[in-house]
Amino acid sequence: MIRFGIVGGGLMGHGIAVALAEAGFGVVVHDPDPATLASLGERVEQALERGGTSPDDARIVAQRVTAARTLAALADCSDIVVEAVPERLEVKHVVLAALEERVSAVTPVWSNTSVLSLTEVAEGMRHPQRLVGVHWWNPPYVIPLVEVAPGRETDHRFVQEACDVLDGLGRTTVRLGRDVPGFIGNRLQFALVREALYLLEQGVCDAKTIDTVMRASLALRWPAVGPMENADFIGLELTKDILDSLAPHLSARTGGFPVLDALIGAGHRGRVTGAGLLPWPKGRDEDVARRLDAGIRDNLASLRNTRSA
Ligand SMILES: NC(=O)c1ccc[n+]([C@@H]2O[C@H](COP(=O)([O-])OP(=O)(O)OC[C@H]3O[C@@H](n4cnc5c(N)ncnc54)[C@H](O)[C@@H]3O)[C@@H](O)[C@H]2O)c1
Repeated sequence: MIRFGIVGGGLMGHGIAVALAEAGFGVVVHDPDPATLASLGERVEQALERGGTSPDDARIVAQRVTAARTLAALADCSDIVVEAVPERLEVKHVVLAALEERVSAVTPVWSNTSVLSLTEVAEGMRHPQRLVGVHWWNPPYVIPLVEVAPGRETDHRFVQEACDVLDGLGRTTVRLGRDVPGFIGNRLQFALVREALYLLEQGVCDAKTIDTVMRASLALRWPAVGPMENADFIGLELTKDILDSLAPHLSARTGGFPVLDALIGAGHRGRVTGAGLLPWPKGRDEDVARRLDAGIRDNLASLRNTRSA
């Protein structure tokens, strides 16, 4: 059975470990932060229990996840390495260089970058053909999608292998034809976030209203019928007429987001500071974490009953 090594045991690293351990794989996780490493087992068990696994079973599954204090210890026992370190190119380059010193030339390396170009992530690698973009969504043990993409130098056999392994895990795997920053999902997501910020800036509505509109309309439709199927369903002439009228009014901004600049400048950085686009009174973060986890699981369960094509 494949043994996975995960470099970076933060939010995504521990979440991917949970997904792999639940599927029966052994996982070793390395993180330079002692506190992150020390809390790994507990965080894995908590994630499993949130998903309904009994405490006894969670303990058994969590035993498949072990902590490695050094990168060398991880490299020694990994058939596939997952990179889940912070989203900064220079950090990824340092980690990949250190990793390549310690693993064989053919060990696959999966980068969990959200929006960086895979080609740029692979720059400086001795064996860039082994780097594959494998983008999991948070929480990885709940959301089924994994996007797989090559960098310019990636050997397509590594891409195929990643897709096969992920399919075997029961993931919804999509394969991109080429390297694009943001894969598919984050491009769609941030096109929407850009437009939402533009609406705020134009004084059309407040942030709460944007979430209300989304959750009471599009969020209900999209799990059942995606935007492409819906475009066909309403007819492509109507889709084109709407776009011809609307597209000139949509944000096409490529940088500088005054709403965010003002909030960040005032020290309002969201959940962590108690205020952001919305107020974050005590308890809101636990409530959002619970809704994220339980709400997505409920949606998945109901989707299984309605799925077609
Ligand atoms: N947070 C999300 O929702 C999300 C979703 C999909 C993909 N991602 C991507 O996953 C990656 C990790 O994001 P995250 O949210 O888990 O971040 P995080 O900050 O929670 O975790 C990153 C971990 O990497 C560790 N780290 C830092 N330097 C390291 C080094 N040199 N070697 C090994 N570990 C090191 C940190 O100690 C930390 O524990 C990023 O590329 C991010 O864009 C994040």
